[in-house]
Amino acid sequence: MAKAKVPANGHRRVAIVGGLRTPFVKANTVFNDLSALDLGRLVVQELVQRTELDAKELDLVVFGQVIPTLTAPSVAREIVLLTGLPRRVEAHTVMRACATSIQSMVAAANEISLGNADVAITGGTESMSDPPLFTSRPLAQALVSASKAKNLPAKLKPFQKIKAKDLLPVPPAIAEYTTGMSMGDSAEKMAKENGISRREQDEIALASHQNAARAWKQGAFADEVMRVPVPPRYKETASTDNIVREDSTLEALAALKPVFDRRYGTVTAGNASPLTDGAAALLLMSEEKAKALGYQPLGFLRSHAFAATDPGDQLLQGPAYAAPIALDRAGMSLKDIDLVDMHEAFAVQVASNLQALASKAFAEKLGRPGPVGEVDRSRLNVHGGSIALGHPFAATGARIIHQVLRALKRKNLGTALVTVCAQGGNGAAVVLER
Ligand SMILES: CC(C)(COP(=O)(O)OP(=O)(O)OC[C@H]1O[C@@H](n2cnc3c(N)ncnc32)[C@H](O)[C@@H]1OP(=O)(O)O)[C@@H](O)C(=O)NCCC(=O)NCCS
Repeated sequence: MAKAKVPANGHRRVAIVGGLRTPFVKANTVFNDLSALDLGRLVVQELVQRTELDAKELDLVVFGQVIPTLTAPSVAREIVLLTGLPRRVEAHTVMRACATSIQSMVAAANEISLGNADVAITGGTESMSDPPLFTSRPLAQALVSASKAKNLPAKLKPFQKIKAKDLLPVPPAIAEYTTGMSMGDSAEKMAKENGISRREQDEIALASHQNAARAWKQGAFADEVMRVPVPPRYKETASTDNIVREDSTLEALAALKPVFDRRYGTVTAGNASPLTDGAAALLLMSEEKAKALGYQPLGFLRSHAFAATDPGDQLLQGPAYAAPIALDRAGMSLKDIDLVDMHEAFAVQVASNLQALASKAFAEKLGRPGPVGEVDRSRLNVHGGSIALGHPFAATGARIIHQVLRALKRKNLGTALVTVCAQGGNGAAVVLER
């Protein structure tokens, strides 16, 4: 670990030096035979190669996974051990739902900022094709009792009380623990309470696909997305995202049936983020270390904030709570920000958060003198968002940070605000500068 000189304010500037992601693909398609650990290992291995990082310099790996792999629960440490990185590199795994790789970045950045580390790899990985399925509690208890029993009749006895329904596998919960509402139900609630129309949601979805398709066409993702040979035959290589629809139209989106509230709802497969497999990683360094090693940083972390709201109120409104705090901490206002990148869990959540950021009433609720402001839509998610690109939960934050930094560079701009909403009413916001 580094023995760094820390400035008087106790903070060193943290540089984002590199980043990489796998293609993001719809669950149960091309990455069907890859686990979250496989995807995380592949992206970290290639990030190290592409950035020509001397592994001797690496202090720390912080990685995340939202839906855990129960046979390898600390994905960060397994990545270190499987990629041939030095075994002394300490690693830990984090989870902050959809904001997981914002959390992994912040955890490592804090270590760097405090002078406890100089070089870190962070990110997140997710396989929605490989969710853990577990047994019911009665079946689990019977299996444990049977394993302790000494003879066959005693081993069979615990199963006598098992009912047919106890034999069904139990999938990971998709509903909020405290409210029992799914993300989709909460999105519908926000549409109704905030008066967000189906048309506005479909327009946001269309913009996401058009911007992502244009970015692919213009080669904007060439330095962001690696190629992944596809098992089991390894004859094909995944080199692009497979969710982006170049030919998406408002008419096709308008024709889709609502999925969560089938009768009166507005949330469809077209204006929601899909279940996705993928991984993304970032290389962070202290500014001095990046300079000493000859790296040209993509940008710097200026500030961040996490905030939360009542999940029973408007579950996905966290960004509107976190963004003003991150801007205050950066000493900036919205007019200082060139690009805004807002994770798109659902189009209605994007519309609702933009509405709240521009609202005087919402500012009053937060006890602030005025609203954050109106986000210029031409500066929002300029290379597409999670609706078109997909949303492998733990990988999305790192995807956005890298993507928006590259977009700033292409457009010769200086600052970006990133936001992510997450389970439990959490929200994350990050201010980046070049
Ligand atoms: C919304 C959801 C249920 C839809 O799942 P799905 O039914 O598997 O979705 P599909 O991709 O099969 O799409 C359904 C249909 O819509 C069509 N469709 C999807 N997007 C479209 C688009 N942009 N334009 C036109 N058609 C589209 C598909 O082609 C498909 O048509 P088909 O039935 O004729 O094949 C699922 O994606 C979901 O659960 N998303 C939310 C995930 C979540 O909660 N995330 C947390 C947020 S943080």
